Amino acid sequence: MKGQIVLTGREVRLGDNEQIISKTDLKGRIIYANRAFMRISDFAEPDLLGIQHNIVRHPEMPRGVFHLMWETLKSGQEFFGFIKNLTSNGDHYWVFANVTPDREPGGEVVGYFSVRRRPSAKGVATIQALYAGMLAVERSAGAARAIDASRAHLAERLGGQSYERFVLAQQLG
Ligand SMILES: Cc1cc2nc3c(=O)[nH]c(=O)nc-3n(C[C@H](O)[C@H](O)[C@H](O)COP(=O)(O)O)c2cc1C
Repeated sequence: MKGQIVLTGREVRLGDNEQIISKTDLKGRIIYANRAFMRISDFAEPDLLGIQHNIVRHPEMPRGVFHLMWETLKSGQEFFGFIKNLTSNGDHYWVFANVTPDREPGGEVVGYFSVRRRPSAKGVATIQALYAGMLAVERSAGAARAIDASRAHLAERLGGQSYERFVLAQQLG
């Protein structure tokens, strides 16, 4: 299904107080999606449940960002970031995401939660340029070296600041 999606270049925006919420298992397969998620992504519940979250992956998102997301989650921490997502009809929507480990009372991580809000316009503009650079580096490095090259480019561009501090400042500042 994904291979047939043609990009429209049209942006869909979240409402001011709208939140897109999903819950996944440890592998990132969707086990819960709220109504806002279905409305914005234009997928119905049966299209989403049990499916990898990359169903909304946009081809302009650098692999390095998801690498950082999973590294952060696997270390037991929460992740904040700007993400460009794809809808079922080829439109796209930007979000500011907060992804957190979902723990059992004993502390064991059993899955993940993601809550996304409307991103700041300033944040999207800044991050778009950064991601375009990462994507270009990934393409020229080739598949085997893409992640390392992308992460190195990100670190260099952030000049010692963590991605988390950078994106929080872009969203809140
Ligand atoms: C809770 C949770 C939420 C996620 N949300 C998104 C999302 O909104 N968009 C996205 O492209 N990937 C999201 N991911 C990451 C995907 O699982 C996947 O790693 C990413 O799309 C890259 O896919 P690929 O390796 O097949 O290219 C999420 C993962 C988790 C655990």
